Amino acid sequence: MATYKIAVLSGDGIGQEVTPQAQKVLNVVGKAAGASFEFEPALVGGVAIDATGGPLPESTLRLCQQSHAILFGSVGGPKWDSLPQEQRPERGLLALRKGLDLFANLRPATCFPMLVDASPLKRSVVEGTDIMVIRELTGGLYFGEPRGREKLPDGGERAVNTMVYTSREIERVARAAFDVAMKRKKRLTSVDKANVLIVSQLWRDVVTRVGRTIPPSSSTTCSSTTAPWPSFTRPTQFDTIVAENTFGDILSDEAAILAGSMGMLPSASLGGKVGLYEPVHGTAPDIAGKGVANPIAAILSAGMLLRYSLDRGEDAARVDAAVLKALEQGYRTRDIHGEGMKAVGTEEMGDLIAREVERSY
Ligand code: IPM
Ligand code: MN
Repeated sequence: MATYKIAVLSGDGIGQEVTPQAQKVLNVVGKAAGASFEFEPALVGGVAIDATGGPLPESTLRLCQQSHAILFGSVGGPKWDSLPQEQRPERGLLALRKGLDLFANLRPATCFPMLVDASPLKRSVVEGTDIMVIRELTGGLYFGEPRGREKLPDGGERAVNTMVYTSREIERVARAAFDVAMKRKKRLTSVDKANVLIVSQLWRDVVTRVGRTIPPSSSTTCSSTTAPWPSFTRPTQFDTIVAENTFGDILSDEAAILAGSMGMLPSASLGGKVGLYEPVHGTAPDIAGKGVANPIAAILSAGMLLRYSLDRGEDAARVDAAVLKALEQGYRTRDIHGEGMKAVGTEEMGDLIAREVERSY
């Protein structure tokens, strides 16, 4: 029997509520498919700061390196907001991404048919949306040097971040994006700011160059744009998008409009030996501890874990289908709630999806 060691880094806020639902679903998969998941919890983010003084304890990083995959919740919260940048909970996640060389962040934004009305966009615009954003995750503005903040003699302040990429860094994420696009609808759009930023000019050159190495027989097309706004006015025209770290963060955040809620967006961070799977949403301090958070993003992230880290695509498809079933039956957490629907909390939604997964075997 296959045994998988999964590092579980629930982190802060609703991360602690949604991650157990993802584990629940994986356990059901394991039982039905004859595999066993060994979950190893570890501290990250604010809870790690409270317990150890830092957001990414050495023991957590080591555990991650020795696992088959990482299930991640979310990090951050008002309690740690006043800490200096370098000591904040978010640093734990950034250090993990960098430490594990997770340079390609896959963020699907799908508008499920039964959630069309949960989007503030018109049905005619959003229906059928199925986009995959590939966000570069270990470089760009997030990590560039110099960075910092200083006082000026005039009493003011000065702060700096640097957007920097090497052609090698761009090339590897571009290749990853082409690989993904080729398995989808074969249309890659690279989002940059090449009309203004020198880094974006290099980005565009390299993506174009990589595109030329893709065999024409794959009939995959690639275009670059500085104007991604049609992804919200005509989202169905888009298939796969690749972008710099910060651009990708913003684009994938806004994709919540297409999917109906941030609570619907999963992600996979790939590139190094061990993949990390996390919902795109944050810790949601306003609803944390109330048992109302939507666990679907976390559960779909577990599906991506099955697909990308464990090569269990068939089981992943069952998880995706189970989410759709629960939605079809009218169950909704409150972020996607609508008239005539059945309101459920985090645990209940997790149970319902787990039940559908079980039934599918
Ligand atoms: C995300 C988050 C993180 C990011 C934060 C928590 C560091 O917003 O995964 O999108 O900015 O990358
Ligand atoms: Mn974000």
